[in-house]
Amino acid sequence: MKPYVYLAKPVPEEVENYIAEHCSYDKWEGSEPIPRSELLQKLGQAEGLLITGEKIDDELLDHAPNLKAVSNISVGYNNFDTDAMKRRSIIGTNTPDVLNETVADLALALMLSAARRVPELDKLVKDGKWEKKSDEPLFGVDVHGKTLGIIGMGRIGEAIGRRAKFGFNMDILYHNRHRKMETEKELDASYVSQEELLQKSDFVLLMVPYTEETKHLMGREQFAQMKKSAIFINTSRGQTVDEGALTEALQNGEILAAGLDVFDQEPVSPDNPLLKLPNVVTLPHIGSATYQTRFDMAMLAAENLVAAVTGKEPTTVVGELKGVLK
Ligand code: DGY
Repeated sequence: MKPYVYLAKPVPEEVENYIAEHCSYDKWEGSEPIPRSELLQKLGQAEGLLITGEKIDDELLDHAPNLKAVSNISVGYNNFDTDAMKRRSIIGTNTPDVLNETVADLALALMLSAARRVPELDKLVKDGKWEKKSDEPLFGVDVHGKTLGIIGMGRIGEAIGRRAKFGFNMDILYHNRHRKMETEKELDASYVSQEELLQKSDFVLLMVPYTEETKHLMGREQFAQMKKSAIFINTSRGQTVDEGALTEALQNGEILAAGLDVFDQEPVSPDNPLLKLPNVVTLPHIGSATYQTRFDMAMLAAENLVAAVTGKEPTTVVGELKGVLK
């Protein structure tokens, strides 16, 4: 008998075929995320669950008495209540590494777009407002040779740092839970306090995981420490930023601009005042969203799922849940 798993998120055909070789399964086929009530009903027999972002908490786990593993198709796993999972010996996996370079590409795209006002000027051209007069009102700021401060120097942070250092000759400052001597050597990067980073950087880039400690890491006080000419980029999670404070900092000229791939509430409300500001470049949380990378993430998540329900150690178990599978 093959173990039974539930796929709460559609995956590419090749990935589904791989799962089918090893497991019996049912899947959600809607283009919208699966409604919570529907998901809860599907879990009675499931030994494994493939998912992105859905809250894995006591309520859900109470509906899943046979569950052994939850496989997230994302590197972030702030949707896991790891204590609740640990109490039930349920393992959780994520998809690190396969997305590093793709997310780093997007972070650079946001830096360049915000600095050179790409979306704003694209709109100006398409709206027929490109006029034969001084282009000074369209000027942006340089990226090359400036100082980039990275808060959260994990593997994605390092990939961003490499692009900035070797592609744009930027100076790299970073702040992280631990110092990373190899990275410092490779990127000629300096480890500094968060305060010093905020004060000295021309670009401040947030790439931390979302945890209780990083909730509203950037608030009024932090934006006030940044240079007036600085640009803020968030490619982590929306909840790491106090959006009210960011809005005020942008409106009051405390910082120059921002590039945001993530929001406190997603999809972001059309009424969010950040969307009304010309100096904010926005994206719909697409850091890892290329065909190849999303395929690689889905395949890694599938491999993790199959391993866990067939009694093998999955490749990328999240730190808090290593060794909990009986
Ligand atoms: C991730 O993998 O965590 C990306 O942000 C997509 O959710």
